[in-house]
Amino acid sequence: MLITKVDSWEALDSRGRPTVATRVALEGGALGVALVPSGASAGSHEALELRDGGGRYGGRGVRKAVGHVTDTLAPLVTGLTPTRVDAALRAADRSPSFAVVGANAVLSVSLAAQLAAAAAHGTSLARYLAADTGPLLLPMPMVNILSGGAHAGRMLDVQDFLVVPVGATSFAQAVEWAVAVREAATRLALARGHAQAVLVADEGGLGLPLATNRAALDLLTEAIRAAGFAPGTEVAIAIDVAATQFFHEGRYRLAREQRELTATGLIAEIARWCDHYPVISVEDALAEDDWEGWQEATAVLGERVELVGDDLFVTSAERLRRGITEGVANSVLVKVNQNGLVGSSRAVVDLARTAGYRTVVSARSGETEDSWLADLAVGWRAGQIKVGSTHRSERTAKWNRLLELEATEDTVFAGPWPGGRPGKDAA
Ligand code: PGA
Ligand code: ZN
Repeated sequence: MLITKVDSWEALDSRGRPTVATRVALEGGALGVALVPSGASAGSHEALELRDGGGRYGGRGVRKAVGHVTDTLAPLVTGLTPTRVDAALRAADRSPSFAVVGANAVLSVSLAAQLAAAAAHGTSLARYLAADTGPLLLPMPMVNILSGGAHAGRMLDVQDFLVVPVGATSFAQAVEWAVAVREAATRLALARGHAQAVLVADEGGLGLPLATNRAALDLLTEAIRAAGFAPGTEVAIAIDVAATQFFHEGRYRLAREQRELTATGLIAEIARWCDHYPVISVEDALAEDDWEGWQEATAVLGERVELVGDDLFVTSAERLRRGITEGVANSVLVKVNQNGLVGSSRAVVDLARTAGYRTVVSARSGETEDSWLADLAVGWRAGQIKVGSTHRSERTAKWNRLLELEATEDTVFAGPWPGGRPGKDAA
């Protein structure tokens, strides 16, 4: 089935910022439409998100990227089968970060081609990517409850406080439990005088002006209990420290707590959080280029908790390979727009699996109503997914898609995780 037409246009993401949308048409009429997400706490090693600059949309327009799709990429991929699209896109821009045409331009075509191919096969993208007929693996969700950092006006230094419904026996039950905790957290916050608890942060979590990161962990643990769950065994906690965001001149500055820590100091602090609270997963504990700090963190915490590299690995096989060689982290966050191509993002998942690293497919803080992320997580057997909270439709689009897959396909759920530890995984 050959590509007959590629259209691209400027659409909006969940923050009201422009993003690239592309539609790929195949002979026979199958279509794939994909919108590209966008980060706020983006790592500096991510593939390039091309923005126009100038006055439109505060410089955030993507007309140049759209122009690159229509003028450069469309002629290259028209007449190809979808399976050959990624190689053609790679050949169109040999710079590692797609600095010439923009990774947002490239990814929109890469995704739309996969979606069109699945449509042509009359199947879900998840099933198409899984390329087998056995049961599909539904991922354990990590659900944002409290937001800080770049997603909530820096009212907390740590960016995300999430719940992992480790005791749930189905995906639907995991979602139900996460919503119960979210509701309990709102009630607790309102009872403590936080009127802001009726508002939502970028990823749909609560953005509260709490004094310390511990106060957030206290509130979340209490919310888990108030919702009727056993902390740790039924509902556990994950955090995304997003430490790159507060790393300055070799020091980690916790602005809310007015403390400045070395890598060793921050690791000790995180270790205390893991001692006192049911924290089972820590993302970006250290900054993106603090490889030494990361090594130390892995030595101290790697046996106890999942250590996820986001800004550290930026869905790059090269950076993940270095991490594996140097004994850094034990899990990788997978965000396709950090990489640019669906195929090479999958290669990162496969590399991680071979090395015994876990994989968490993740949304961005700037999302769209698209739900392909859910299908990628399932099709790649990632085992875990992080989408934001249970509020806001760009988030529920992904949860709802996973609920649809659970209801309509032959699936197994990645949980429960006995003792709060990841059990059944992607392998
Ligand atoms: P971002 O945040 O999309 O703003 O980069 C998500 C994350 O850090 O995991
Ligand atoms: Zn992150």
